[in-house]
Formats: sequence, structure tokens, C-alpha cells
Amino acid sequence: MNEFVELIKSRRSIRGYEKRPISKEILSDIIDAARLAPSANNMQPWEFTVITEKATLAGIADLTSWGKFIKEAAAAIIVSGNSESPHIVEDCSAATENILLAARAYKVGSCWVAGYKRAYSEHIQKLLGMPKEQEVVSIIGLGYYYANPEPINKRPLEKVLHWEKY
Ligand SMILES: Cc1cc2nc3c(=O)[nH]c(=O)nc-3n(C[C@H](O)[C@H](O)[C@H](O)COP(=O)(O)O)c2cc1C
Repeated sequence: MNEFVELIKSRRSIRGYEKRPISKEILSDIIDAARLAPSANNMQPWEFTVITEKATLAGIADLTSWGKFIKEAAAAIIVSGNSESPHIVEDCSAATENILLAARAYKVGSCWVAGYKRAYSEHIQKLLGMPKEQEVVSIIGLGYYYANPEPINKRPLEKVLHWEKY
């Protein structure tokens, strides 16, 4: 089995973290992987805001509905894009997935928190001093973790795979 495919298959959303910080080098390399994601017409509409300050992490956590665990995260990454870009969701989601996988490769746990068109996203935008045209697409909590959680229930391959015709 291919090592990289195995890594993809072993990724899980991690919502509890060790206190250990993530180095700037690792965080920068994770963003480097994100910026190389595919994008429609290679428009690359994304921006990545990395937060490591405790007070800001707590502020983001409080604002979200299902991202309270970000309070305990070592870092958070906010993926945003120019709201006028026609493929902002696909492009920023591709970048977000790269972040999750690059983090996994560094043995850093991560969890995607909904950010696109959420009532709280405008408040996060203001909290971080993001320009008005920058629309939040995703918020990712990151941190080292003790153990990968048990495999989660996923729809089996034979139920989702259609050969030649649906
Ligand atoms: C668009 C999107 C939004 C999500 N929002 C949240 C969220 O707000 N809070 C959360 O804890 N998990 C969130 N998740 C993570 C999912 O709950 C998780 O991916 C799913 O349960 C499958 O688990 P796995 O990632 O371990 O495979 C989100 C995932 C996606 C793709």
C-alpha cells in the first residue's frame, strides 16, 4: 500500500491537544502545502491567517458554534478568500484539505471548523482585522495529540464507488 495514501486514510479530526506549541517552521510549511493546492484558473484566491496567541484562540473559540475546542489548540488557521472569486469555496476547501494532510504528516492533529457563511464568521473577520472583502471559508484547530482516535464510521467503498455508470 502507498505510504501517502495510508496517511490520508489514517487522518481523523482531532479536537483535543497537548499543550506543546507547533514551531513556526512547521506552521509555515503547512501553509506552503496549502498555497500549492489546485484552484480554478489558478486564481489562488486564498489567504491564510495563523493564530497562536492564547487570547485570540479563545476569542475565536467563543465565537464559533462547534469550535470551542480551539481554546485549547496550539494554533488555528483561518482560510479566507476574496469574496468576488467565483470558486472561493472549492479553492479554499482544496487548500484546507492540504492543511489537514500536511498537519497529519507532521503528526499534528487538526479539525476543520465550519466558516463559510456562518453568522460568526463576520465577527472572526473583525477580530482578526481582515479586510471586508476577505470571506472566511474555514477555521482549523491544530495541535499535537496523544493518539489517533479509533476509525470513524464511513460509508463503505462499494456503496460510493460507481464504475463506468452511476
Ligand atoms: C465543511 C466542514 C465543516 C466542519 N465543521 C466542523 C465544526 O464546526 N466543528 C467540528 O468539531 N467539526 C467540524 N467538521 C469536521 C467533521 O465533523 C468531521 O470531518 C467528520 O465528522 C468526519 O470525521 P473525520 O474528519 O475524523 O473523518 C467539519 C468538516 C467539514 C468538511
